[in-house]
Amino acid sequence: MVLYFSATGNSLYVARNPDADTYSIPQEMKKNERRYKADRIGIVCPLFEFEVPDYVKDFIRSSVFDTEYFYMVITYGMHHGGVAERTAAFFENLGKQVDYINTIIMHDNAIIVFDMDEQRKLESEKKVDV
Ligand SMILES: Cc1cc2nc3c(=O)[nH]c(=O)nc-3n(C[C@H](O)[C@H](O)[C@H](O)COP(=O)(O)O)c2cc1C
Repeated sequence: MVLYFSATGNSLYVARNPDADTYSIPQEMKKNERRYKADRIGIVCPLFEFEVPDYVKDFIRSSVFDTEYFYMVITYGMHHGGVAERTAAFFENLGKQVDYINTIIMHDNAIIVFDMDEQRKLESEKKVDV
């Protein structure tokens, strides 16, 4: 089971790769109670200003995960800024299990800062299929 939040599709693309059983976090947030049970549960989301988006943190705080293996993958465009360590501390403070956290560099969708044509030229350097 993979729960994902994706503004422009990078994280959705990643979410669909390891596991076809995908659920949109914004859709899940409409439910009053959120309990998930699976052999393994993952969350995939983008990095916003060096952090996991507050919206995704709210989802994690307010959900119950019953699993043997819980993982998190954060997609980013330029600098991950050590988000994996901060995210591990976030889980520890919540008293929630996390077995694996990693980051994947993809196109940067912060269009105020980055030019999409320039991003496309970097495709061979980033871990994105073309
Ligand atoms: C508001 C905003 C803030 C972002 N902040 C960062 C950042 O701090 N570091 C970084 O490397 N990429 C940053 N990005 C780029 C995204 O994390 C990256 O493109 C991500 O793969 C987008 O995933 P999505 O298509 O699933 O939304 C930012 C993008 C947006 C829109």
